[in-house]
Amino acid sequence: MQKKETFYITTPIYYPSDKLHIGHTYCTVATDAMARYKRMQGFDVMFLTGTDEHGLKIEERAKAAGITPKEYVDNIVSGILDLWKLMNISNDRFVRTTDDYHVESVQKIFKKLYEQGDIYKGTYKGKYCTPCESFWTESQLVDGKCPDCGREVIDAEEEAYFFKLSAYEDRIKKLYAEHPDFLEPASRRNEMLKNFIEPGLEDTCVSRTSFTWGIPVDFDTGHVVYVWVDALSNYITALGYLNERYDDYDKYWPAQVQFVGKEIVRFHSILWPAMLMALDLPLPGKIFGHGWLLLEGGKMSKSKGNVVDPVVLAERYGVDALRYFLLREFPFGSDGVFSNELLITRINSDLANDLGNLVSRTVSMVNKYLEGGKLTADRVHEPVDDELIEMASTLRNRYEEHMEHYAFQSALMDVMAVISRSNKYIDETMPWALGKDPDKAARLATVLYNLIETIRITGSLLTPFMPDTAAKIRAMLGASEAEMGWEAAGTFGVLKPGTAITRGDALFPRLDMAKELEALADKTGHGAAPSDKPKAEENKAAEKTPEGIITIEDFGKVSFKVAEIIACEPVAKSDKLLRLELDDGSGNPRQVVSGIAQWYTPADLVGKKIVVVANLKPAKLRGTLSQGMILAADLNGEARVLFVDPSVPNGSKVR
Ligand code: ME8
Repeated sequence: MQKKETFYITTPIYYPSDKLHIGHTYCTVATDAMARYKRMQGFDVMFLTGTDEHGLKIEERAKAAGITPKEYVDNIVSGILDLWKLMNISNDRFVRTTDDYHVESVQKIFKKLYEQGDIYKGTYKGKYCTPCESFWTESQLVDGKCPDCGREVIDAEEEAYFFKLSAYEDRIKKLYAEHPDFLEPASRRNEMLKNFIEPGLEDTCVSRTSFTWGIPVDFDTGHVVYVWVDALSNYITALGYLNERYDDYDKYWPAQVQFVGKEIVRFHSILWPAMLMALDLPLPGKIFGHGWLLLEGGKMSKSKGNVVDPVVLAERYGVDALRYFLLREFPFGSDGVFSNELLITRINSDLANDLGNLVSRTVSMVNKYLEGGKLTADRVHEPVDDELIEMASTLRNRYEEHMEHYAFQSALMDVMAVISRSNKYIDETMPWALGKDPDKAARLATVLYNLIETIRITGSLLTPFMPDTAAKIRAMLGASEAEMGWEAAGTFGVLKPGTAITRGDALFPRLDMAKELEALADKTGHGAAPSDKPKAEENKAAEKTPEGIITIEDFGKVSFKVAEIIACEPVAKSDKLLRLELDDGSGNPRQVVSGIAQWYTPADLVGKKIVVVANLKPAKLRGTLSQGMILAADLNGEARVLFVDPSVPNGSKVR
């Protein structure tokens, strides 16, 4: 058998804080999706995560709790393992920096660097941020405070070991010049170059004597290894570098990619490659610095008490819905603002409406119209099939292109575009009408086959993001693993005639926004729904507002957005209604039914920009789903659509 190509991917190792929040989950879920995608492609994947358990903070917290640091971290690490299990994280290995083999390797690394002169003993005088466990030079401070967290720093002086980072400045500069993609996104690369590398690299302090909860420097008692040297080493110790516990360092190192949050990019893109250079080891292919999930008002942090608990959300909406939301809603390289409302909107629009509907409608029609729910070999092709088949057959290529650039959001948008197109195809082909005409049986079978094939391809490509949902789809389609594998995802027409399609439970039930916001506000204290305002306050506001006048808060409840009409057609059996397909900047087409057919033809409208009420409760008009309404002026009973200047981007808010 041919040796499989390897793919090694890592998350940062997490500090054992009491509760990991949705921000931590974000990074791990992204890494998991990437690992599953590479496995699907046939790579021999090593996915590593773990915990970073040393340092002053842990020592202090354990003391306050009246237990040993090891007891303290043991308690928390078991909770972290439970969270990863819940989130369906498929890591191949889990490293704890308190594991014996890691301790042994770090001691050897430290000693090796000392013996070869890359680490030397000196006196440290400088500024120290206790919460971040970081030493800073005067010039790095921002307004005299820690540049990472903005908190007070203290003067610190101690005998310490230093790593000769300055000796690697030229090689680091060369690395950045010759491999511009070593650190991505480019904004982070520019930041590192401008703020740290170009001003010059200074030697960095790599041991501490002020506390004991760390890996002891074995040749100089009283010193413990600086937590970042300890932590960064995990990526190689967990493969067996300088220890006997594992022996696949040669197989997997260097990593293809290491995902890290933006605030720890500096350690990973300067200190880490310099350490590897000093050890004469190859460098990872890429460090990718992802953005933060923020809450309105700033970063989630335990000390601010504003964390969002992934367990609450996963238990309420399902792990797959949460995984999907995290990677679809926010571009991976940028910050995103989390809200419960966004989560519920996304689940409803993409998962309940688009994906869930497509699967349930198609599967039930196959069971209704095809004998025994079995696909047949009958094929009557019509031009309306072309676009769908083309989109579905080429989806894997577009998806791969995005995934190779860690553009999870774009990959998912492309998958969802095919799913929306399939729902439109159902409206266009009207299988229920074909079902009434015995002469159209072969055409009906073709339409249903095309839909099932699109579900198979999109379901396959959703596997890395929503493994359980993909498995449910596979079961309904009666497809083998290979038929929903990577190869088959690139081909249309894989399922064989005779394959039996079976009904399953609804994949994603539709959620009631108001009810959910209320329930979540109770559970998490965040995202309180407008209705959560104390009743007395609401009543008071109502008393003061004259009849017919609304408050700015009332107005603020309506979401107006600029959208472009990308398709338009009359609604069957109605001379008043037009079905509009809108690009509202969300990445998913929005369908709106509007009663303007008497005054506008589709040709008048396609390509024009309008204002849509985006948060109107969806309704069905003549059986066609309408997700919002477009604004029009009333001219003695005639409608005049309000067109917007074409230069306004789709999705712009109208206030
Ligand atoms: O930094 N949004 O551990 P950590 C997105 N032990 N990502 C977030 C986030 C948020 N709101 N909050 C945290 C450490 N993260 C070190 C790493 S690696 C050798 C040592 C991310 O538990 C954060 O950016 O504080 C980081 O990448 C990861 O969670 C672990 O953070």
